[in-house]
Amino acid sequence: MTITPTDLAQAVDVAAAQASKPLELAVVLPTYNERKNLATMIDRLDKALKGVSWEAIFVDDNSPDGTSDEARSLSLRDPRVRCIQRIGRRGLASAAIEGMCSTAAPVVAVMDADHQHDPELLPLMLKAITSGEYDLAYASRFAEGASTEAWGRPDRVKASGFANRIANKVTGVDLTDPMSGFFMLQTKTLRADAHRLSGVGFKILLDILATVDTPLRVKEFPLNFAARAEGESKLDRTVVFEFLVGLYDKWLGRFIPTRFALFGTVGGLGAVLHMTVLALVLHLFGADFAMSHYPKEAAFITGQTIAAIVAMTFNFVLNNELTYADKRLRGFGPLVRGWAQFALTCAFGMIANIGASTALVRIGFHDYAAAIIGIVLASVWNFALSNKFVWGK
Ligand code: GDD
Ligand code: MN
Repeated sequence: MTITPTDLAQAVDVAAAQASKPLELAVVLPTYNERKNLATMIDRLDKALKGVSWEAIFVDDNSPDGTSDEARSLSLRDPRVRCIQRIGRRGLASAAIEGMCSTAAPVVAVMDADHQHDPELLPLMLKAITSGEYDLAYASRFAEGASTEAWGRPDRVKASGFANRIANKVTGVDLTDPMSGFFMLQTKTLRADAHRLSGVGFKILLDILATVDTPLRVKEFPLNFAARAEGESKLDRTVVFEFLVGLYDKWLGRFIPTRFALFGTVGGLGAVLHMTVLALVLHLFGADFAMSHYPKEAAFITGQTIAAIVAMTFNFVLNNELTYADKRLRGFGPLVRGWAQFALTCAFGMIANIGASTALVRIGFHDYAAAIIGIVLASVWNFALSNKFVWGK
């Protein structure tokens, strides 16, 4: 890009204005494929935050549409714009946490970059925080006076409402919209507990509420949840599931990594499906096989093969939709590649499982104990490898 003298003059003006007043507010904007929304977002922040010394931090997960490049080129014209480009990582919550930890501003806000959140609320939130009256200000899609018409998806509105009620039970704080992605707090409040936040998924506000030891005094602002300006949502269909993640985190998180617990749950469902398919094949075709030369074994091998493929595919789809919803593989190519990698991983897992359990039986372990150890080994193997290779990028 080329920087014109006007751009330069403008950059100098902004820098001078900023230098005359210490930084007051950082606005963290996690982005994934939001290139077309950035420039207009900075314009809106500039208008909404007149008289405030602010910076905007885009935390971009190396979006293929070149969001980071766009953020950097905006930054050359306006030094209040910053960009963190994360390589090899995905996830709204962890992006928000990194953005919030990266600023020197005493107050920090998180909001979506797609224009669904109204920046006009920022000065009101800032007043609530700097007055010392509140520890947390946030925008609610369900507060009195809020509207969510732009969603055009009544099912999602309902799902969120239901989800929120459970979330409130979990955190013990009564908010109308604990899943909101638009909030503000003192940076030091966040920093004190940042190391205890899970960073999985997108329930960052919920995470903060559930993690801090002293209850926060919360100010709620009704939000008119606008339609997305450009691009598409990355978070649809995962709202209800975020609770399962939240519950796991809260109850098991200290003992078992949440992602592994989810992976294990999916694996358990897969095992049930495997047995069902096997029983079905034996039941339906067992009699036909009985007529052939190798009756019992042939039926069993056929049943096992079909069951394994069905269960493995089911596990792949469920893990992709849920366990790795924040890094979901999309499109025909990536899905087929992911499926093949997952199949390969599971095949090796199976060999490890059978090999290890057989060895254990030989040295005197009870059959079932050996089988269980084999299953645990294979699960850890499957998780470690697919976590790195299937959903690692
Ligand atoms: N860095 C990063 N990494 N940013 C992401 C990622 C990611 O993996 N996924 C989404 N984002 C960014 C988007 O670019 C956008 O700026 C913001 O996070 C929200 O993502 P959307 O894809 O627009 O989410 P939504 O509008 O469907 O979801 C809304 O409701 C959720 C709760 O139901 C948002 O308001 C969320 O913030 C909110 O948690
Ligand atoms: Mn959105």
